Amino acid sequence: MKPDVSITSAGGPSTDPTSTAAPSMDAGPAKAGLVDTTLAETSPKRTVPQQAVLVDCHELACTFGAGPSAVVAVHGVSVQIRPRDQIAVTGPSGSGKSTLLHLLGGLVPPTAGTISWPGLGGHPLGSPGRVGTIFQAPSLIPSLDVVENVMLPLLLANTDPAKATRRAHAALRAVDIGFLAARVPDELSGGQAQRVAVARALACRPRLILADEPTGHLDHATATALLTALLAACEQTGAALLISTHDRAIAGRLSRQWVMRDGGLVTASAAADPAGQVTR
Ligand SMILES: Nc1ncnc2c1ncn2[C@@H]1O[C@H](COP(=O)(O)OP(=O)(O)OP(=O)(O)O)[C@@H](O)[C@H]1O
Ligand SMILES: [Mg+2]
Repeated sequence: MKPDVSITSAGGPSTDPTSTAAPSMDAGPAKAGLVDTTLAETSPKRTVPQQAVLVDCHELACTFGAGPSAVVAVHGVSVQIRPRDQIAVTGPSGSGKSTLLHLLGGLVPPTAGTISWPGLGGHPLGSPGRVGTIFQAPSLIPSLDVVENVMLPLLLANTDPAKATRRAHAALRAVDIGFLAARVPDELSGGQAQRVAVARALACRPRLILADEPTGHLDHATATALLTALLAACEQTGAALLISTHDRAIAGRLSRQWVMRDGGLVTASAAADPAGQVTR
C-alpha cells in the first residue's frame, strides 16, 4: 500500500526541472491566537492556491552507508503535501521520521525515488525561507543572541535588517518568549531553545513548516500553547505544517496522521477534503 498518495487533485507527478531524483540526493499563545500584531502587520493573510502541490515524492528512499552496515532509514514513500495541510508523523524511535523530514526539506538527497517542490518554486535550498525547519537536535548558533538567531534566515533571504529585526521580535512574542531576545543559547533551557527554533522558522513566513519533535522538551501546557502558535501562524499564512512527534495529544490536534515503521509509511488516517473525497 502507498498510504499517502492523494487521489483528489490535479496534482500528478511534477515536471519541475529542479526536482531531485535518486541517486543524487501578554496574552500567551493559546489566548491570543498567537498572531502578534507586529507579525500580523508584516504577514497579511496569503491566498495560496489550495491545489498547488508543495512537495511531491514518489517511492522516496534514503539509505545511509553501504554494504552490510547499510541502514535503510526511509523507503517507498510516495506523498504529496499541499498548502494548509496539517500532518502529524508518528512512529517508534528509529522508524525514519527525522530522515523523512530532512528529505522533504531537501536537506538530505534521496538514494532512490524522486522528490520535487513545484509549489515552492524549486529546491528549498535555492529559496531560503520557503521551508521553515525546526530540527530535533539543538540548532541555534551559540555566538549569536536569540534575536540574531531568529533573524539569520531572514537576512540570508535578503530581508532588510530593520524589517528582519521587527519580524524576529514578533516571532519571539508569538511563541511567548519575547523576554529572551537578548540571551545567548547557553543561557536557555532546552524548552526555551526549542521555542527559539520555532520562532526562527515562523519569522520567515515559510510556505511549509517541518517541525521535528518541536515539543519534545516542553511541559504539557507549554507544548499545547506552542502548537497553538504554530497552527495560528499556519492559518494566517496558509503554510502547510508537518510535525514529527511521540506525543499523541499533539498528533491528535493535526488533521492528518502518518505513521512510520521501519522506514516505511504504514498507515495514514483518511480525512475528508472539501470536495468530500478522501485524501490519505
Ligand atoms: N546520518 C546517519 N547515518 C547513519 N544512520 C542514520 C543517520 N541518520 C539516521 N540514521 C539511522 O536511520 C534510522 C532512522 O533514523 P531517524 O533519525 O530518521 O529516526 P526517528 O524516527 O526520527 O527516531 P527518533 O524518534 O528517535 O527521533 C535509524 O536506524 C538511525 O540510526
Ligand atoms: Mg527523530
